[in-house]
Amino acid sequence: MSGLKKSYGGRVVLDGCTYRFESGRVYAVMGPNGSGKSTFLRLCALIEKPDSGKADFLDEGIVLEHDLALRRRITLLLPSVGVFNTTVCENIAYGLKLRKVNKAETEQRVLNALELVGLKDKMRRRAVTLSSGETQRMGLARALAISPSVLFLDEPTAAVDSKNSKAVEEIIQNIRHTLKATIILSTHDAGLAERAADTILTLRDGKATAL
Ligand SMILES: Nc1ncnc2c1ncn2[C@@H]1O[C@H](COP(=O)(O)OP(=O)(O)OP(=O)(O)O)[C@@H](O)[C@H]1O
Ligand SMILES: [Mg+2]
Repeated sequence: MSGLKKSYGGRVVLDGCTYRFESGRVYAVMGPNGSGKSTFLRLCALIEKPDSGKADFLDEGIVLEHDLALRRRITLLLPSVGVFNTTVCENIAYGLKLRKVNKAETEQRVLNALELVGLKDKMRRRAVTLSSGETQRMGLARALAISPSVLFLDEPTAAVDSKNSKAVEEIIQNIRHTLKATIILSTHDAGLAERAADTILTLRDGKATAL
């Protein structure tokens, strides 16, 4: 992305962020509360428009149009995962339904995702009965079932204990190897950032700097 700027009510949050993410790599975005990490992820994931600057996605050197096809290759997982009052399976299948993926393939992808996040034994449970850690893993499964090219994770270990945090970290490594997706996560956990990411970006005074 280049020159991303964003202000809310006159307060500058991003003040010209420029960085080029390489495909297939893992990045961690760090910075204090309110430094603009979530804003940065929303702009990069095309959920929100910048005041100026661009978040471009390139495929073999060609800038892709910001159309539905591109948006469907990008997923942003928020720290509080939205849960539908249905089974774990149906929650995970949600993105596939939207994309009109057929039943057999949906089943396969949901099963693979469940396996990857270790929730296979809870697939028929009502999703609202899962613990926070399990819900977070279900969110990851929902995101990876759609095999995104770029996966944004906003504080994936924010509300989970150290055991689930370790599980989330392993899932991230797994996603990296199986999907070969580019992963951009925000976190306050320096250990997670160092272990999981190839590159750490820090946000300070509205600017992103790679360490
Ligand atoms: N839609 C919005 N309207 C008004 N202000 C906003 C909006 N989104 C973000 N902000 C403000 O922008 C600043 C940066 O917020 P952001 O959520 O991006 O920070 P963050 O680095 O993710 O913080 P945290 O570590 O607490 O998650 C904050 O002051 C926040 O209140
Ligand atoms: Mg945030």
